[in-house]
Amino acid sequence: MSGHGTPIPMTSRPCGPLTGEANVPGDKSISHRSLILGAMAVGETRIFGLLEGEDVLDTAKAMRAFGAEVTDHGGGNWSVHGVGVGGFAEPENVIDCGNSGTGVRLIMGAMATSGITATFTGDASLNKRPMARVTDPIALFGAQSVGRSGGRLPMTIVGAADPVPVRYEVPMPSAQVKSAVLLAGLNAPGQTVVIEKEATRDHTERMLAGFGAEISVEETEEGRVITLTGQPELKPQTIAVPRDPSSAAFPVCAAIITPGSDVLVPNIGLNPTRAGLFTTLREMGADLAYENEREEGGEPVADLRAKFSPDLKGIEVDPARAASMIDEYPVLSVVAAFAKGDTVMKGVKELRVKESDRIDAMAKGLRLNGVEVEEGEDWWIVKGLGHGNVPGGGTCESHLDHRIAMSFMVMGMAAQNPVSVDDGSPIATSFPIFEPLMASLGADVVRSDR
Ligand code: S3P
Repeated sequence: MSGHGTPIPMTSRPCGPLTGEANVPGDKSISHRSLILGAMAVGETRIFGLLEGEDVLDTAKAMRAFGAEVTDHGGGNWSVHGVGVGGFAEPENVIDCGNSGTGVRLIMGAMATSGITATFTGDASLNKRPMARVTDPIALFGAQSVGRSGGRLPMTIVGAADPVPVRYEVPMPSAQVKSAVLLAGLNAPGQTVVIEKEATRDHTERMLAGFGAEISVEETEEGRVITLTGQPELKPQTIAVPRDPSSAAFPVCAAIITPGSDVLVPNIGLNPTRAGLFTTLREMGADLAYENEREEGGEPVADLRAKFSPDLKGIEVDPARAASMIDEYPVLSVVAAFAKGDTVMKGVKELRVKESDRIDAMAKGLRLNGVEVEEGEDWWIVKGLGHGNVPGGGTCESHLDHRIAMSFMVMGMAAQNPVSVDDGSPIATSFPIFEPLMASLGADVVRSDR
């Protein structure tokens, strides 16, 4: 787990063109859900292309602790023998979810309506993050929770032995909270209804339907109304995990800002609830093409071709798009530094409660590299300097946040001077092959302690 070991300082030096093919790992959101839903089905679920990052491996361990048989067959090929909805065993020890908010929040939801008790913890980053957003709705099902002040981990959840279904309007745009409530609803009798005002990533809804649950989604004036019928028998599935658009963001953005680059990032899901960054980059004038557009497993998929884009311009990012690119604002802010003019990002309060306060972490690091940033509670503006004019030269703190570390490594590829981070170890939570993959394209990213 990141944050438990020795920090890994890393430096990215200005490099020549990035060229070639970037085969990024499997989707993190879908990988977590494959393991959790596999554990709640009866029989064997097969998973191909699972992301073997630390976050997902922690979820695999957790599913074993709840009684599922989880086997690694090598090469991203895994199987899960599930225990069925309501079949979780009580874990013998504390569940350590490492750095993963998705892992802990989804698992808390999934166990909240079984009559068992479990205690959760995580690394220094996760133990600072708000959990009341999950413990509030699961209390409505009848689950109890005791954690540290401010609803922080470590935390014990006493599942509801006799759960009741709920109707819950999610107060913030969060797929984790929506998913926690839906997973809790699986073992409640009757219908659980979840309403979200803004659409967030919909993998849980799609996958629940795939596993045979009765689930419907209606777009209404109130928002998206999701109705799930409880206590289904989930049927095991064979899942091919698509590649992660949030990981694709790094080679794509690196190619856009690095002179002469031409990089192909094959097989990326363009589900509209995830693809906001790519639309935004095109609005900024990026040379980003969708090749070989097709449908796979009911999802739009394309190969992304990203080329150096010398005439990027700052834009005001449509706030309605925020949820569909929430994890991509850090790397977008790096691209914005290489654009001419201001990039304005509004309606992004959620960035303050991610693995780090991402507005604060990026603003500080960008300033250390000679880029001006203005910020407020739920907005920030990056004052772009234009291509060739970004000084770099700073050593930034990654705050145990993989996306902060990778964003500054991308910045170093095209800045005038190298860019360093104090600790690149969190990169292994979501993108364990980041360094060799970027090196294969021509980047010069090194561990600076060597
Ligand atoms: C995720 C949802 C998002 C995202 C996270 C993955 C998911 O978090 O930031 O990386 O898989 O459901 P929120 O639900 O907190 O927005």
